[in-house]
Amino acid sequence: MPFDFETPPDRSNSDSIKWRRYAGRDILPMWVADMDFAAPPPVIDALQQRIAHGVLGYTHPWPSLLEAVVEGIERDHAWKIEPDWIVWLPGVVQGFNLACLLAGEPGSGILSFPPIYPPMLQAPGNQQRQLVRSSLTLAGGRWEFDWASLDALLPVKDTRMLLLCNPHNPVGRVWSRDELTRLAWHAENHDWLICSDDIHCGLVIDPSQQYVPIASLDASVAQRTITLMAPSKTWNIPALSSAFAIIPNASLRKQYLAAARGLLPDVNVLGLVATEAAYRYGGPWRAALLEHLHANAQALHKTVNQMPGLSCCEIEATYLAWLDCRGLHQANPHRFLEQHGIGLSDGRDFGMEGFVRLNFGCSRSLLDEALRRLSLAALAAQAA
Ligand SMILES: Cc1ncc(COP(=O)(O)O)c(C=O)c1O
Repeated sequence: MPFDFETPPDRSNSDSIKWRRYAGRDILPMWVADMDFAAPPPVIDALQQRIAHGVLGYTHPWPSLLEAVVEGIERDHAWKIEPDWIVWLPGVVQGFNLACLLAGEPGSGILSFPPIYPPMLQAPGNQQRQLVRSSLTLAGGRWEFDWASLDALLPVKDTRMLLLCNPHNPVGRVWSRDELTRLAWHAENHDWLICSDDIHCGLVIDPSQQYVPIASLDASVAQRTITLMAPSKTWNIPALSSAFAIIPNASLRKQYLAAARGLLPDVNVLGLVATEAAYRYGGPWRAALLEHLHANAQALHKTVNQMPGLSCCEIEATYLAWLDCRGLHQANPHRFLEQHGIGLSDGRDFGMEGFVRLNFGCSRSLLDEALRRLSLAALAAQAA
């Protein structure tokens, strides 16, 4: 069945926060991470059927939902989990904030890897912990962990948890088995908890890459790991607020549930219905989406790298491109690009100066127009 990613619904006068920011201005909204596409048809059908029932009373996750998630994770990511390991959450952000509460005592360090999704920089401080930064580094045209600085950093900080993003927002890396093994070795060696935000795991667009959940490396790593997942990015349903943690270690799971007690709402019934439909029937739509995103990513990569003062690495996963604007020599590249009609995310929010993030989860024609404007902006910067 063909899916149309070229003529998405018009969001310009909708409740979308992405489109509202620039309403009435000629600025293309390519910032916050949702895609411009309607959710997959089986997800919409399931929601319509549930609404038609008419009663929206209290609900807890039901057996066929758990089965769909467990089967989907094994089918798509070769990781066999048990239904009991799942803790439902209204969002992944709540999920990693809760995990921070289990990282040692107040004041303990939590290691993370900027540039990174801004709430992951804020979570340690929110929960009275300290963020320990180990910035990713550009090596041979690829973003990598900075192993040398990481090794030097560790003995001097009271680090109790590793906060990972895999695949990584915003640099689009799918961490390899070797890289994860090396990180896990540190975690075992220093007795850290691992919290891995894998919300983008269904969005590996480079067919030569494979997502590996760090908890699947071996049983011992699984015992110290909280993995966070959701259908929200892959099937474009983030406002339905359905996510989950996978915690194989029973005692860690108990502590996590205790930390959440009284604070988190149950996932709403529509989120749960959409989650089951997405994992059970969303495969063909996801496969078509990945092809569309891969084509967008390739066009973007090729075009951006021909522009003066701009560059970007190959994107392995996500619908987000991390653009290096340092060569534009602008004090505020985000504002400069807004002035040229493109609304992106400011790299400083991700913990790195001189970069912006572009969301290419849109039609090819919108992306082409953004690239045209970007090219004009790059030329203008050069001429200045
Ligand atoms: C890495 C990452 N984690 C979490 C989220 C948000 O998750 P949620 O809406 O479930 O809180 C995003 C959204 O962009 C993200 O990129």
